[in-house]
Amino acid sequence: MKDKIYFIELNEDKKYEEYKQYFSLLPLAKQQQIDKFRYDIDKKLSLIADLFIRFLICQNLNLHNKEISFEKNSFGKPYLMGNAEFHFNISHTRNAIAIGISSNPIGVDIEKIKCADLKIAERFFCSNELEYIQSNKQDRFFYEIWTKKEAYIKWDGRGLSIPLDSFDVTESTIDKILHTITIHDYIISICSRQDFSGTWCMELTEDSVLDCLQKLS
Ligand SMILES: CC(C)(COP(=O)(O)OP(=O)(O)OC[C@H]1O[C@@H](n2cnc3c(N)ncnc32)[C@H](O)[C@@H]1OP(=O)(O)O)[C@@H](O)C(=O)NCCC(=O)NCCS
Repeated sequence: MKDKIYFIELNEDKKYEEYKQYFSLLPLAKQQQIDKFRYDIDKKLSLIADLFIRFLICQNLNLHNKEISFEKNSFGKPYLMGNAEFHFNISHTRNAIAIGISSNPIGVDIEKIKCADLKIAERFFCSNELEYIQSNKQDRFFYEIWTKKEAYIKWDGRGLSIPLDSFDVTESTIDKILHTITIHDYIISICSRQDFSGTWCMELTEDSVLDCLQKLS
C-alpha cells in the first residue's frame, strides 16, 4: 500500500440531503453521531470522511464495506480492526477534509488559514514556537505550528491528554517526523515516522468523491 494524503474541499452548494442514500453504509453508532450535529456542513464533513476512508480501505485492502469495523483507543483515536499494518487519520475543518493512509502510525490535521490568534499561541504554544510565529509575522506560520501540534498529538494517539505546551514542534527530533503542505487556503500537517516529504497529496472535488462512493455497497 502506498502512503497517501487526500484533500477534499467541499462544495457549499451541494446539499447534505444528496448523501442520505449513503447513510445506511455506516454503522448505527456513526449514523447517530452524525445526526447529533446541529449544522448540515458538520454532518456532511463527518459523513464524507467516514465513507471515503471506507472506500480507501476497500480499495487498498480488497475488503467489502461490511467487513470494515473501526475501534477507538482509550483517547478516541480510531483504527481499523483486524489489520495492524493499515493506519489512517482523519481531520476536518470548515469546509475541507484531509485523510492520511499509511503503513505506519499517522496523525493529520487540517486548518483553514485565517487571521492568527496570538492569544491562543501565547496560551498553548511553547516559547520557541511563539518566537517562530512572531519572527515570521504571517498568519500561515501560526497555522503551521497549530496543525503540527495537532498532528503530533493525533499521531501519538493520546490527543489532548498531552498538554500542548509540553512539547516543541520546532525542536529537531519532533520536527523531523512532521511535514506540512499548503493547498489553496488550507494547511495540512502530517506526523509520521514515514518520510512524507515527497508524498503526493491527492486533491479531490466533492463530485469525484461522490463517484468513488457509488462503488461502495
Ligand atoms: C480530538 C482531537 C484529537 C482533534 O480534534 P480536532 O482538531 O478538533 O478535529 P480534527 O477534525 O482534526 O480530528 C477529528 C478526528 O480525529 C480522530 N481522532 C479522535 N481522537 C483522536 C486521537 N486521540 N488521536 C488521533 N485521532 C483522533 C477522529 O477520526 C476524529 O474524527 P471524528 O470526530 O469524525 O471521529 C483533539 O486534539 C482536539 O480536540 N483538538 C482541538 C484542540 C485545540 O483547540 N487546539 C488549538 C491549539 S493547537
